[in-house]
Amino acid sequence: MSPKRLQGVVMLLMLMVLNVSGAFVGITIGNDMSNLPSATDIVAILKAKKIQHVRLIDSDHQMLTALANTGIEVMVGVPNDQLLRVGQSRSTAADWINKNVAAYVPATNITYIAVGDEVLTNIPNAALVLIPALQFLQSALLAANLNTQVKISSPHSMDMISKAFPPSTATFNSTWSSIMSQYLQFLKNTGSSFMLNAQPYYSYVGGQGVFPLEYALFRSLSPNGQISDPNTNLFYTNMFDAIIDATYNSIQAMNFTGIPVLVTASGWPWRGGQNEKAATVDNALAYNTNLIRHVLNNSGTPSQPMNQSSTYIFELFNEDLRSGPVSEKSWGIMFPNATTVYSLSFEDVATTIPESPALRGMFCVANSSAPHGALKHSLDWACGPGSANCSAIQPGQPCYESDNIVAVASYAFNDYYHRTQSSGGTCSFNGTAMITSTDPSHGSCIFAGSTGANGSDGGTASGPVSPDSFASKSQSCWLTHLVAALLAILVM
Ligand SMILES: *[C@@H]1O[C@H](CO)[C@@H](O)[C@H](O)[C@H]1NC(C)=O
Ligand SMILES: *[C@@H]1O[C@H](CO)[C@@H](O)[C@H](O)[C@H]1NC(C)=O
Ligand SMILES: *[C@@H]1O[C@H](CO)[C@@H](O)[C@H](O)[C@H]1NC(C)=O
Ligand SMILES: *[C@@H]1O[C@H](CO)[C@@H](O)[C@H](O)[C@H]1NC(C)=O
Ligand SMILES: *[C@@H]1O[C@H](CO)[C@@H](O)[C@H](O)[C@H]1NC(C)=O
Ligand SMILES: *[C@@H]1O[C@H](CO)[C@@H](O)[C@H](O)[C@H]1NC(C)=O
Ligand SMILES: *[C@@H]1O[C@H](CO)[C@@H](O)[C@H](O)[C@H]1NC(C)=O
Ligand SMILES: *[C@@H]1O[C@H](CO)[C@@H](O)[C@H](O)[C@H]1NC(C)=O
Ligand SMILES: *[C@@H]1O[C@H](CO)[C@@H](O)[C@H](O)[C@H]1NC(C)=O
Ligand SMILES: *[C@@H]1O[C@H](CO)[C@@H](O)[C@H](O)[C@H]1NC(C)=O
Repeated sequence: MSPKRLQGVVMLLMLMVLNVSGAFVGITIGNDMSNLPSATDIVAILKAKKIQHVRLIDSDHQMLTALANTGIEVMVGVPNDQLLRVGQSRSTAADWINKNVAAYVPATNITYIAVGDEVLTNIPNAALVLIPALQFLQSALLAANLNTQVKISSPHSMDMISKAFPPSTATFNSTWSSIMSQYLQFLKNTGSSFMLNAQPYYSYVGGQGVFPLEYALFRSLSPNGQISDPNTNLFYTNMFDAIIDATYNSIQAMNFTGIPVLVTASGWPWRGGQNEKAATVDNALAYNTNLIRHVLNNSGTPSQPMNQSSTYIFELFNEDLRSGPVSEKSWGIMFPNATTVYSLSFEDVATTIPESPALRGMFCVANSSAPHGALKHSLDWACGPGSANCSAIQPGQPCYESDNIVAVASYAFNDYYHRTQSSGGTCSFNGTAMITSTDPSHGSCIFAGSTGANGSDGGTASGPVSPDSFASKSQSCWLTHLVAALLAILVM
């Protein structure tokens, strides 16, 4: 066997392993509010929500203490108002590392330092100290022997990209070329990531109707409504991927490659002022739910299908003291008193909640007497915020019926119900759904909970039923096959 082929197989195996670890979703915790819960309460919330990655906007010592021995990975921040001091003095930078990082690792798993926030666009006067700050902090990490455990970077605003669409021709604002080039060289030298605050909300609102809301919210567009990049013919089903590809291409235009993009903030406000119509609970829930699902699916972007950006949701708490319009104070999924604004699952709903065996032979279907408008509304909810697996009702799939809203809504309602019933989901859909024991499955369109009483094995082998064990089984199966293939080749 040729070394090239062996290399190929080894790479494939490595990819599988990388894919198993995969991209993660974390959350940002700000501090611009009148009533911050105690550090121990915050950590209890993170644990209850099974959140494993958190980005602190600063390096609050109570938080760093409370996060010790929790297994949660932590990104700390050098706030903009400390940047000047850190960037002007090597010893201040060393002091910063000692007090805020070295004093807490390894008990607190600090893995990243975000230096400043949107420095070039927010505080351009401090632009010249950004690179020195990165370098001084890196030297201090090296001196403390922490440079392999902790990476350093600096989050940028999307506004750094002059013309983000089409993604293939995007470039960074040339005003900052020299600093950007040094920044990229720093990332390349230290194996760090480009940090990006990717906020489709702002692009959607700024676009004033150019982009459909569905595109911003990851809701699948009809095939001819997809947005394509005329230079690459790549299709974009969502704005988030387009923003990330614009960033990759801007990096490439500076002649750098192989630098991953890490999304340090992405979210959607749930409340806005009178002229902020897109800031609603429904949209915030849909955006964040779909974003989590998208990232955990690990399918990358159209131009970088192998590289999924890990992402920190913006943000855990509403920051009531932030300046700006109502929406600026309303990005949180919780109030500071720990009341939830809306409930968000940080696991991939579609792959982690197995169906309840108690629901075998029970189905949640659309009430055919309900008004079709209401059914359509409920269907959109089930496939969007409700996170039902609606693949089977897409064109070309077994449960697709172009002019039968009752049939497709039934599939979606039932999938939602079977996934969520054990955690409180109901078969209601605003009165448009009802429970039945009549199995609506037909042909190769198998509903969740089907017992396959007709003799087909519909109940166990189909996608929607128990996707959890199905997915992991098929994955380990792949791995076994690959190992077997590799062994066979090596023996030859
Ligand atoms: C910290 O996180 C890294 C990255 O996930 C992991 O490899 C390491 O084992 C963690 N360290 C501790 C002490 O938990
Ligand atoms: C580039 O940045 C400069 C300085 O902040 C700004 O004045 C200019 O408008 C930006 N150009 C574009 C195309 O965004
Ligand atoms: C990138 O490389 C090309 C080809 O070598 C060169 O023409 C171009 O000026 C370089 N761009 C930058 C930003 O350095
Ligand atoms: C994307 O993934 C490919 C294959 O794993 C790798 O060669 C490449 O360097 C990655 N690109 C970035 C930007 O990380
Ligand atoms: C998940 O990834 C697969 C391919 O890896 C893709 O076909 C599918 O559309 C993705 N689903 C979502 C919700 O992005
Ligand atoms: C928490 O704060 C929100 C917003 O201020 C308020 O509506 C809610 O009633 C509070 N909940 C509790 C339990 O105090
Ligand atoms: C179905 O909808 C009709 C009209 O809205 C309503 O009268 C009827 O009670 C519903 N049936 C069930 C079983 O919910
Ligand atoms: C969604 O359903 C399809 C079959 O309809 C299945 O192939 C796919 O694996 C399911 N996806 C998830 C995430 O369960
Ligand atoms: C429920 O029905 C009411 C009245 O028809 C409607 O105003 C409301 O938007 C519906 N809510 C949902 C979540 O479908
Ligand atoms: C069960 O049998 C009935 C009648 O033969 C048929 O209409 C239906 O599609 C079958 N269901 C399944 C799940 O095969």
